[in-house]
Amino acid sequence: MEKRENWGSRIGFIFAAAGSAIGLGNIWKFPYLAGDSGGAAFVFVYLLAVFFIGLTVMLAEFAIGRAAGLDAIGSFKKLAPGSFWWITGAMGVLAAFMILSFYGVVGGWSLAYFVKTVSGSLSGLSVEQYTNIFESLIVAPMEPIMWQLLFMGLTIGIVVFGIQTGIEKWSKILMPAIFIILLILIVRGLTLEGAGAGLSFYLKPDFSKINGRVILAALGQAFFSLSLGMGTMLTYGSYLSKKENLQTSALTVVTLDTLAAILAGLAIFPAVFATGLAPDQGPGLVFVILPAVFNKMPLGLLFGAAFFVLLAFAALTSAISILECVVAYLKDQLGWSRKSASIIMGGIITAVGVVCSLSLGIWSGYTVPFPGHDPLVFFDLMDVISSKVLLPMGGLLMCIFAGYVWKVENANKELTNGGTLSAKWLPLWNILVKYVAPIVIILVLLNGFGVVG
Ligand code: PFF
Repeated sequence: MEKRENWGSRIGFIFAAAGSAIGLGNIWKFPYLAGDSGGAAFVFVYLLAVFFIGLTVMLAEFAIGRAAGLDAIGSFKKLAPGSFWWITGAMGVLAAFMILSFYGVVGGWSLAYFVKTVSGSLSGLSVEQYTNIFESLIVAPMEPIMWQLLFMGLTIGIVVFGIQTGIEKWSKILMPAIFIILLILIVRGLTLEGAGAGLSFYLKPDFSKINGRVILAALGQAFFSLSLGMGTMLTYGSYLSKKENLQTSALTVVTLDTLAAILAGLAIFPAVFATGLAPDQGPGLVFVILPAVFNKMPLGLLFGAAFFVLLAFAALTSAISILECVVAYLKDQLGWSRKSASIIMGGIITAVGVVCSLSLGIWSGYTVPFPGHDPLVFFDLMDVISSKVLLPMGGLLMCIFAGYVWKVENANKELTNGGTLSAKWLPLWNILVKYVAPIVIILVLLNGFGVVG
């Protein structure tokens, strides 16, 4: 059997894990959620969620993955032989399958917007026209599917090349590029006249907007944004050498992801306000409002192109991590080659993604009832089942596994490299992983089902 792959360097791993975490969740969703839920007050709750719950689960995933050195399912089989815990990993692989199907569609939209911006077809229009362009793109049967195929082709292509020459190499290029583009956009936005109103909208705390629903939304967002609960970080951790420091790695990845989210808000809101537009909701913020913002901005074409290339890059480094989670399972457990696993599974996920895309247009009449939600089209069903059910459930099970089944003592040993690294924070982590995180995650899950919130 060939030797299992490893990351080429510590920094390569950090970029790849941060690349997984930083994605559409940060650049599209976080600013909208923050803007909608009390600005700085939401950011404060989000930070608590990220550093107390998110970091806790990430440490558990890294420890499980590196200790076992296997994929999401194999790791549980190895650490708890003969038990049913492998189902946690199986749920993760299923979540990966579902998330990538709709994620590839939105990744495709980002590519489409990059090309539309560069070609000048988004110049000089009204907000209504931008709305029409977006709505007709997502409902058109063929156009979004072509873009989705291109996006998934890039994702599959990178995963075929494997850890060092595929994922690590590309993340090392794309991640710094993302931060540089974000910083340029922030400087541009903040130097526009009237940017101050956007800044205070985004950063002025309004604690009256904080309620149970907002807190739980912040937690759900933390899971999705940090790529937790489905074994992505576990799989990435499994390619790490025994020498690396898991504690500082997790802290670095969580910090970079949070920084990217906060910077994305800083890049977006001042520009939106300076252009005299209202911060809209959901997909509109990025795909409708921002083209209108860029249109009114000097050198808007250049900044618009930079933004959409950034969005596509961020989505790509996340998409490759999701596919890797599935590929690692087929490789480690079923002995498939990396190439066939990537191409066959990537192909099947793309096909499911085509159904997601069509469900926003010609198949939007087919809906499924779901507790706590209006009837969902297939695209939204994939999103809700994965992000609101499978990820929190996976995170909960991983905490229980690390805290009680595999036992915290073993996790602690892994996190200190056999007692050679500092264990200063571990007593706190032990409380968080055994008690705090499970209880809080159960609340998130109940919110997902509409029981609380
Ligand atoms: N973290 C990614 C984002 O914020 O867009 C999405 C994601 C990637 C979720 C990988 C889950 C995952 F396992």
